[in-house]
Amino acid sequence: MAFLRFTILVFISTNSFVLGHELWRVCYYTSWSSQRTDGQPLLPEDIDANLCTHINFAFTTLDSSATEILTEQTYDLNLMQRLNALKTRNPALKTLISLGGWEMGSMKFHKLAASQANMNKFAQNAIDFLRAHNFDGIDLDWEYPGARGSPATDKHAFGELLMVLHNAFAAESQRSHKNKLLLTIAVATSHNRTQESYDVRMISRYCDFINMMMYDFHGSWDNKTGPHSALYSDDEYNINHTASHWEILGAQKDKLVIGVPFYGNVFTLLDPNDDDVGSASFGGGNMPYYMICQALQDGTAQEIVLNNERVPYMVQGKNWVTYDNPSSLREKVDFVKKRGYGGIMVWAIDLDDSHGACGHKYPLMNAVVDGIKQSGSVVVG
Ligand SMILES: *[C@@H]1O[C@H](CO)[C@@H](O)[C@H](O)[C@H]1NC(C)=O
Ligand SMILES: *[C@@H]1O[C@H](CO)[C@@H](O)[C@H](O)[C@H]1NC(C)=O
Ligand SMILES: *[C@@H]1O[C@H](CO)[C@@H](O)[C@H](O)[C@H]1NC(C)=O
Repeated sequence: MAFLRFTILVFISTNSFVLGHELWRVCYYTSWSSQRTDGQPLLPEDIDANLCTHINFAFTTLDSSATEILTEQTYDLNLMQRLNALKTRNPALKTLISLGGWEMGSMKFHKLAASQANMNKFAQNAIDFLRAHNFDGIDLDWEYPGARGSPATDKHAFGELLMVLHNAFAAESQRSHKNKLLLTIAVATSHNRTQESYDVRMISRYCDFINMMMYDFHGSWDNKTGPHSALYSDDEYNINHTASHWEILGAQKDKLVIGVPFYGNVFTLLDPNDDDVGSASFGGGNMPYYMICQALQDGTAQEIVLNNERVPYMVQGKNWVTYDNPSSLREKVDFVKKRGYGGIMVWAIDLDDSHGACGHKYPLMNAVVDGIKQSGSVVVG
């Protein structure tokens, strides 16, 4: 009987694994969140070490030669050390440094990928930096190859850069007998961006996984309201469509990590009485989930779920806010499992209600974790 129970448990647990690994939960952690003065700063030691399988430290940058990794803030090295100390609480946790981001722009990456010598020098420097600071890998956030000043040829150069890094990391692992350093990337996923920036087959081959930024499909720049992280929709701006598109283009599907936002996009309504999807807006910004949940809880905003898109929005006076809540995240986790993708990425762990201002701590991240662990009980039921 004991044996029987054991085999059933094994069977159940394999349902939440893809090709032998538990679905990844990749969390970005922004170093500037440690400096927040709104009552919700997040320090590395306050991150629950078991919520994420990978934590990406955002961001680092490149020096003027574009071959050397630099920290952005004077406090970053200290934060990195404290972040990596989480591995004593969860030895399976992997940490990566994230290089780039929107602010760094495209030109330094262009310079890096412009010559074999620069790429080789950078590869060595990256290995030294990661090993010296006890990281498990690097995540490249080039926004974007072939755009923002970078020429069209950088679409291919990005693939070359990943190949050089992959080969250098593999060689270092052989020499050092340490686990191979991880190589991941963050990508924007719309049709036009994909077409312009990514040789999907090549990048998929050389990186360990791909963090797909599946948000900002709509934002205040549209001048009209719309969901920013729809699972489905009638147009192309949704997760289902873009993930399928990347598969068709040759991405290895177990390397696709579906990104979800822990922030809302805010639209300022032109007329507060006209507050549907597609209503006119001017300007806006974004709002962390820890503020969204407080607006919902204190009754100043009301949540409405879009049935087709499978995400909520809320209206708070002149503000129209599109975001994800625990139940929309559960649906996204189910989608990832059903389709056999690699996991879920979140931007960013520090935007969740990490202090429990609205009740339990980390309501969004726990929804992701519970969703991933849930599959077994469905089989049992
Ligand atoms: C994509 O790019 C094409 C060509 O530049 C442009 O005509 C089209 O409007 C773009 N599509 C979207 C959805 O932005
Ligand atoms: C939104 O409005 C701004 C300011 O009027 C304008 O510059 C911009 O082109 C508009 N964007 C779109 C997508 O229509
Ligand atoms: C999901 O995307 C696929 C491929 O684009 C499409 O055929 C399918 O209808 C979409 N599903 C939904 C529910 O929209």
